[in-house]
Amino acid sequence: MDLVLSTRNPHKLREFNVLMAPHRVLPLPGEVELPPETGHTFAENALTKAQAAADATGKTAIADDSGISAAALGGRPGVYSARYAGENATDEENLAKLLDEVPDDGDRGVAYVCALAYAEPNGQTHLVEGRCEGTLAHKPRGDGGFGYDPAFVPVDRDDGLTMSELSQSDKDAISHRGRAARELIAWLDGRR
Ligand code: IMP
Repeated sequence: MDLVLSTRNPHKLREFNVLMAPHRVLPLPGEVELPPETGHTFAENALTKAQAAADATGKTAIADDSGISAAALGGRPGVYSARYAGENATDEENLAKLLDEVPDDGDRGVAYVCALAYAEPNGQTHLVEGRCEGTLAHKPRGDGGFGYDPAFVPVDRDDGLTMSELSQSDKDAISHRGRAARELIAWLDGRR
């Protein structure tokens, strides 16, 4: 089916088109205004964005909200992952702050979380969540991916590579977004 993706991020549009296949992911029309991300949970933000797009377009929409949680920081930065080092912080600045704050000899456990919301114009919604557990490397490694990937070592693999050292398809196979997308596809298939 066709799903409008509630984002202005072209990278996410490309990524979800691959992850949600055979469903088709359509861009959000330019005139639709996205609500600010003011929720305290990934789920709240994802649902608000998906419902706003469904209401504005009259079409079924999806939206995700994601981030990284560090065990040593009580789950932070969580929903604040994109602006951890400040409102306009770069990926490098956010990662540097996380590497600075997680103690070298403390709990290095981290998790990527992705809430993926589905919303119909009639108000029906569905929410799935994907997680990817990992450990935080002491130094960034690799050129691929984005955000916290250079220091995220997923537990699903035993080669010790960071997410930035994996191909996109190897990352998709274990990532929080990949898992959430596969769960949503399974739920959509079950409704046919
Ligand atoms: P969102 O666009 O509000 O979902 O922002 C999520 C933020 O969490 C991003 O800006 C990254 O900092 C971080 N993040 C989410 N997913 C990933 C990932 O797959 N790799 C690296 N960082 C991620």
